[in-house]
Amino acid sequence: MQSLLEARDVRKSYSRATSLLSGKGRESRFVAVDGVSFSVAAGETFAVVGESGCGKTTLARMLLRLIEPDSGEIQFDGQDLLALGGEELRRQRREMQMIFQDPFASLNPRMRVGEIVGEPLAIHEPWLLRRERHARVAATLKRVGLGEDPLSRYPHEFSGGQRQRIGIARALILRPKLIVADEPVSALDVSVGAQVLLLLQELQQEFGLTYIFISHSLPVVAQVATRVAVMRAGKFVEVGAVEQILHRPEHSYTRELLAAVPELPKA
Ligand SMILES: Nc1ncnc2c1ncn2[C@@H]1O[C@H](COP(=O)(O)OP(=O)(O)OP(=O)(O)O)[C@@H](O)[C@H]1O
Ligand SMILES: [Mg+2]
Repeated sequence: MQSLLEARDVRKSYSRATSLLSGKGRESRFVAVDGVSFSVAAGETFAVVGESGCGKTTLARMLLRLIEPDSGEIQFDGQDLLALGGEELRRQRREMQMIFQDPFASLNPRMRVGEIVGEPLAIHEPWLLRRERHARVAATLKRVGLGEDPLSRYPHEFSGGQRQRIGIARALILRPKLIVADEPVSALDVSVGAQVLLLLQELQQEFGLTYIFISHSLPVVAQVATRVAVMRAGKFVEVGAVEQILHRPEHSYTRELLAAVPELPKA
């Protein structure tokens, strides 16, 4: 299989003010992502699993160039992503979209759902006629299970699961190659989350999407992933096929994570 995304030795540190209380205010660096390398094949679901604070979101945001790595290389679709600028970067950006953890915080409360879902089209395909854009928005909302009714309503009028579907519609509308989903179901009830996971899987089949799926939950990862990276303190400690990670883990930290969730499905 051809790889769609390849990351090599990606790093990011943040400055962290220390000894503020002592009045010195000296700065130290804190390494959030510490030399991560991996590749993601077209059509797969590559999961990144790890505890809170291990660097998952920082990594995700670097892969989409929402934040700049300190060092490392990222190839996306045969291009050196970190070298792109201007129009070239814009063109690549439409191929990579993100779904966020918190469907409440990630949608602008002052925009109607039709505007939220249509915004990427307004940015990337400004030449579309109003009615063409409307038709694309309506079709996308329908595809994620929401019908046309939401178009002129506001995010607060929807449940968490519905809001996450709105976020999925916005990510989907440009027909990207890659979707990075950062904890897409962890803010939802289990049954609502399960339906959203099913939707994501259907969309993957239908549109040939590649997912990078970030989660702290091994049962969720077990349901969707083809391969899994186990992340701890900014590093990948183990990467492998989902069956291997869940049933024949090699790293002691992976075994610790697994021991904490006895209800995992059997191979
Ligand atoms: N902008 C920032 N400035 C300083 N430190 C940051 C910043 N963003 C993240 N961090 C720190 O980097 C580390 C990794 O954060 P990150 O959000 O990537 O973790 P995470 O794995 O996504 O956690 P969670 O599961 O809670 O979402 C944390 O210690 C966090 O406090
Ligand atoms: Mg996070």
